[in-house]
Amino acid sequence: MKKIAVQISPEAKSAYFKDYIQVAKQELQQVMTVSDIELRQTGALEFFELDCEQADISPLLRLSFVQGLYSTEGKALFPIDKLAGFRLHDDFVFGSKYRGKTNERLTQMLINVGLSAIGGDKGKRLKLLDPMCGRATTLLWAMRYGITARGIEQDAKAIADIRQSLKKWSKIHRQKHKVMEGFIGKPNKRAAGKFLDFSAEDTSMRVVVGNAREADKIFKKEKFDLLVSDLPYGVQHFTTDKTRNPIAVISDSVAAWKNCLKSGGAIVLAFNSYIPKRSVLIQTFEQGGFEALAFSAAHRMSESIVRDVVVFKVSH
Ligand SMILES: C[S@@+](CC[C@H](N)C(=O)[O-])C[C@H]1O[C@@H](n2cnc3c(N)ncnc32)[C@H](O)[C@@H]1O
Repeated sequence: MKKIAVQISPEAKSAYFKDYIQVAKQELQQVMTVSDIELRQTGALEFFELDCEQADISPLLRLSFVQGLYSTEGKALFPIDKLAGFRLHDDFVFGSKYRGKTNERLTQMLINVGLSAIGGDKGKRLKLLDPMCGRATTLLWAMRYGITARGIEQDAKAIADIRQSLKKWSKIHRQKHKVMEGFIGKPNKRAAGKFLDFSAEDTSMRVVVGNAREADKIFKKEKFDLLVSDLPYGVQHFTTDKTRNPIAVISDSVAAWKNCLKSGGAIVLAFNSYIPKRSVLIQTFEQGGFEALAFSAAHRMSESIVRDVVVFKVSH
């Protein structure tokens, strides 16, 4: 056992606001079994101190709030010279900024929590679906983890935006890649079924224009280990019904999402706990044959948004 100091990145504050210490701790405890976590402050720097096996270093580096790791001796800190080993340049996830983008660190946390809920990859290539994928933050993060990613987005304009930013970052970082576009089914004016494929670094993603409710029809030949999404929760993220409460769409989608999951798979959702309330969201999934894990990561983003995270596994 080694004493390790885990430096908390200032980015955690932009992701989790004033609750960042608590949320960081929740993520850490979900991903690793650690008995004692102590918060240490040195000037403006903040660290969690914990005992750690050598084997646990890599998962620590992938936590959403981590800036760096140190081994400690008394008060002295010695930087550990290791990287998280993600594929693709950071810019593919962090580079493009747009209205409605999910915080990149929160998205990373959703994947980490999902991976822990399914017991890791066990050496297998995993598949992830984001049924409300916007401009593909989750999908690109998944690719960085080496996970094959699929997404559905109702807004047809997303395809052009995603294409543009992929081309940009591929060019700037000289990233070898392939982009392909087409239609699932017949081309049509509404662009329903239009898809964009991106592959690079031995992994790939596909975004399809469509409705999250039809996820199992859109990807009828595929099953997923993880379904990860940031549900619509602001005025700029209308659902297809133009209502601010996504529960109707969710309720209509539960069966389709269950059909998309591999046995043992998990669903991880970020949502505004004012609409829908955590209990209502859980009830909706319970009625569809899921159970919620104990994990939560509530943090206030604004007067009208307290974002939380819930994880579901199939119960029957
Ligand atoms: C919170 S945003 C997700 C943002 C995304 N994670 C990103 O960083 O770009 C929710 C997305 O859900 C989409 N959406 C809402 N209802 C949908 C539906 N029924 N089917 C597919 N997409 C939907 C919205 O258009 C919006 O892009």
